[in-house]
Amino acid sequence: MTDIPAIYQGKLQTLDEIRISPLSRAYTFSDSIYEVIPYFSGKPLCFMEHIDRMKKSASVMGLDINYEKAIGDIKELANTLTNQDGYVYYQISRGVDLVRSHLYQDDLEIESFGYAMPASFPSSALSAMLCSDERWGRCDIKSTSLLGNVLAMNKAKSLGCQEVVLHKDGFMTEAGASNVFYFDSSGTVRTSSLSENILPGITREILIKALKDGPFCVKEGSCAISDFNDSPCIWLTSSTKGMLPLTNLIGTDYKLEENHSGYLEVVELFNAAMQSHLEVSV
Ligand code: PDD
Repeated sequence: MTDIPAIYQGKLQTLDEIRISPLSRAYTFSDSIYEVIPYFSGKPLCFMEHIDRMKKSASVMGLDINYEKAIGDIKELANTLTNQDGYVYYQISRGVDLVRSHLYQDDLEIESFGYAMPASFPSSALSAMLCSDERWGRCDIKSTSLLGNVLAMNKAKSLGCQEVVLHKDGFMTEAGASNVFYFDSSGTVRTSSLSENILPGITREILIKALKDGPFCVKEGSCAISDFNDSPCIWLTSSTKGMLPLTNLIGTDYKLEENHSGYLEVVELFNAAMQSHLEVSV
């Protein structure tokens, strides 16, 4: 199938060669967490920020992870991306049970799996659909339990969209696989504040810091979806998308104002911030 470099329980192989038990709790219960770390010309963007987020997810799950080993695995995978753009996916599950049971054994061996994927990151604008956020209540954990995201995004796909913007009771949470920003009608950059309902995105943080150092005011807080009708520009951030604007958002009157000068300035500040992160990245 594929000779993509992959690692399972510390052993570097290819995706093809890895054999995983169906009783892995990642398989039976999504009892697992993950990270996606982007690489540009072989250099990671915000490596330690991804590890720190993994530590937070693991601590909520009560997973006792050997981080030296996890970092070693990710670096071993990343070495296969020499001078290339791409990403490393790294997943840690609670382990493999002898029988399927919601109650896990106390002495399970942590199960780790990852792969390195060369990829070129997209740069074109996306279509999205506004959807009710029907996910569970701890989306701040980067868990592989993504059924709510998968169902919403694939419903949107059938209408020609690549993403969704989710809301709870009329207030935006985040997108299916990204965080969301927009200009409101008064020209302020808005995004949802961090809560248990959204993932604390690494790209979100890069952008917020870059904007705070510049002329823009960023307001993190409650974002009413009615704001979208008057917004000239809504955009998404994620490790694999960087920053991408939405052309339209089904369910609202929003339409992207092409060449919006504020957005072009934001892109410039974001790109400069990414470059300075990459310059110090090893
Ligand atoms: N997704 N929110 C959700 C639900 C996400 O899945 C992601 C990233 C983000 C952005 O986080 P970051 O900037 O740290 O990538 C926000 C990854 C890329 C994925 O699941 O493939």
